[in-house]
Amino acid sequence: MKKEQFYVTTPIYYVNDVPHIGHAYTTIAADTIARYKAAAGHEVYFLTGTDEHGRKIEQTAQTGGETPIELADRVVVKFQDLWKLLGISNTDFIRTTEPRHHEAVSEIWKLVEKNGDIYLDEYEGWYDVRNEAFITETQLEEIMKLPEESRPRLEKIKEQSYFFRLSRYQEPLLRHYSEHPEFIKPDYRRNEVVSFVEGGLRDLSVSRTNFSWGIPVPDSEGHVVYVWFDALTNYLTSLGFPGKTGDFGKFWPADIHLVGKDILRFHAVYWPAFLMSAGLSLPKTVFAHGWWTVEGEKMSKSLGNVVDPCQVVEEFGSEVFRYFLLREIPFGQDGDYSKRSLVSRVNGELVNGLGNLVSRSLGMIERYLGGIVPEPGEPSESEKKIESSYGETRLQVSSDLEELAFNRALSRIWEFIGLVNRYVDSEAPWKLAKQEGEEKRLGTVLWTLAESIRVISILAYPFLPETAQAIREKIGLSPDISAENADWGHTEPGTSVVKGENLFARIKEEKD
Ligand code: ME8
Ligand code: MG
Repeated sequence: MKKEQFYVTTPIYYVNDVPHIGHAYTTIAADTIARYKAAAGHEVYFLTGTDEHGRKIEQTAQTGGETPIELADRVVVKFQDLWKLLGISNTDFIRTTEPRHHEAVSEIWKLVEKNGDIYLDEYEGWYDVRNEAFITETQLEEIMKLPEESRPRLEKIKEQSYFFRLSRYQEPLLRHYSEHPEFIKPDYRRNEVVSFVEGGLRDLSVSRTNFSWGIPVPDSEGHVVYVWFDALTNYLTSLGFPGKTGDFGKFWPADIHLVGKDILRFHAVYWPAFLMSAGLSLPKTVFAHGWWTVEGEKMSKSLGNVVDPCQVVEEFGSEVFRYFLLREIPFGQDGDYSKRSLVSRVNGELVNGLGNLVSRSLGMIERYLGGIVPEPGEPSESEKKIESSYGETRLQVSSDLEELAFNRALSRIWEFIGLVNRYVDSEAPWKLAKQEGEEKRLGTVLWTLAESIRVISILAYPFLPETAQAIREKIGLSPDISAENADWGHTEPGTSVVKGENLFARIKEEKD
C-alpha cells in the first residue's frame, strides 16, 4: 500500500538564547502530531533546527567574547539534548550555518531575482535587533507609545539594500487567503493577517551591509541575506532543495508549519510571497499557537523567571511535562504555566486517573487469575457501553488531532479513562472474586479492563509515547503502535500481564 506523506515543521530557534518552555511547547506539539500521523500510517517528515545567523546572534556572541559559530556550536547542543530528553522524533535537525542551507538560500534568491522581484535601493529607517525586523513608520509610532523600558532596542540604519517587491504580492496573497481558508489557522489569526495585508504591503529590505554574519547575497559583495529570508528557506533545505527529486518531490509542500503567534506574519505573508516569486508551491497550513506566561508573568531573562525544561523534566519527568503543556490550554490560545496547576493535573489526572486504572486492573488480574488475561463471557450493558464509548472517543480524538486541538483530545481520552475507572467501581471485581459461580463474570470484567488499557495505550501514544510503551510492556504487547489493531476486541485471552511499577509518582503538594 502506498503511504501518504506528511510534513510538519517547528520554527528554527535562535541560538542566542537557551531553550525554554516556549520552544519545548512548539516542538512537543509538532512531535505529537508527527507521531499521530505516523501511527495512522503516514510517511512522516518532521523538521526542527536552529537559526544561527543575523545581527542578534552576532551581537550576543560579541558580548560573550566568542565568535558567532562558537556560540552556535555551544547552544545547539542544548536544543539537541533537550529534544532527546523529551522524546522528540524529528526526522532531521537543520542548522542554518550548514553548507546545504547556504546553497538553498542562494538558489531561492536567484529564482526570486530572475523573476524581477529584487532591486537595489537605499534603506533608511529603524531595525529591531531582538526581533530581526525592519520597523515601519506606523510600528515606530506604536513603539514610541510604550513606556521607555519596554521599548525594543532599535538601530538606525541608512545603507544600500536589496529590496524584495513584496508590494506586488498583496493581491495574490489576499486571493490565496480567501481561496484557501485553511492556510492560516486559527481563524482569528487569519483575520489579523488579512487586515494587515489589506492595509498595504511595502517592499521588504532583504539584505544588510553593516554586519557580516550571514549568507552572502549571490554576486554582490558586502551584502548578506536578511536573516528571515535565510531562516524561512530552512523548510526547503532539509528536503534537499535545490534538488527537486527525493524528499523535496515527496514532501513539499509542507502540511503544517507550526509557529508561535509572534512569528506568524513572517510565515503567512513574507514566506508565501517568496515562494510565489520563486515559483514554488505554498505550504498547506501555517498554525500559530498562543503564548505562555509563567506564574502570571511574562517570561523574561531580566525577571529571572524563565522556566528551564531540563529542570522540569528532572523534577517531574518528560511525560508529565508533555502532558501538562498540551492539556493545560487550548492550542492557539495564551496560557499560564504554574507549578500548582501542573501538580494538580499530575496527581489528579495522571496518578489517580490513568496510573490508578492500570495498576488496579493489572493488580487484580495478577491476584485473581495469576496474571493471565481471561476469556471474556457475553458482554452485559456495562461492557457494551465501554466498547461504544471507545468507538466514539477514538473518532473524536482523531478529528481533534486533525485540528490540532490537543487539549480537547486529551480531555476526551481522560473522560474515557474516567468511565473505565467508574466501571471498576461499579462492577467491583473484588466482590466477584469471592463469590461462587461468578468466575465467568469476573473473567468478562477483567478482560474488558485489559482491553481498555490496550486501547488507551493507542490513544495516548502520540502525547505520552513512553507511558504508552510502558503500558504495552505490562500487557505483553510490542511497543510498535502502528502495527496494532485499534479496533475494539483484540486482547488475546491467555496473555500474561504484570502490574509492575506505577506509571506516575504522586507529587507532594506544597503549602502556600
Ligand atoms: O523567532 N510561549 O526564533 P525564537 C509560546 N528564529 N511559544 C514560545 C514562547 C512562549 N512564551 N517563546 C518562544 C525565532 N516560543 C526565529 C524563527 S523560523 C523560520 C525562524 C516558541 O528562538 C514559539 O514557537 O525566537 C515561537 O514562535 C518561537 O519559540 C520563537 O523562537
Ligand atoms: Mg523570539
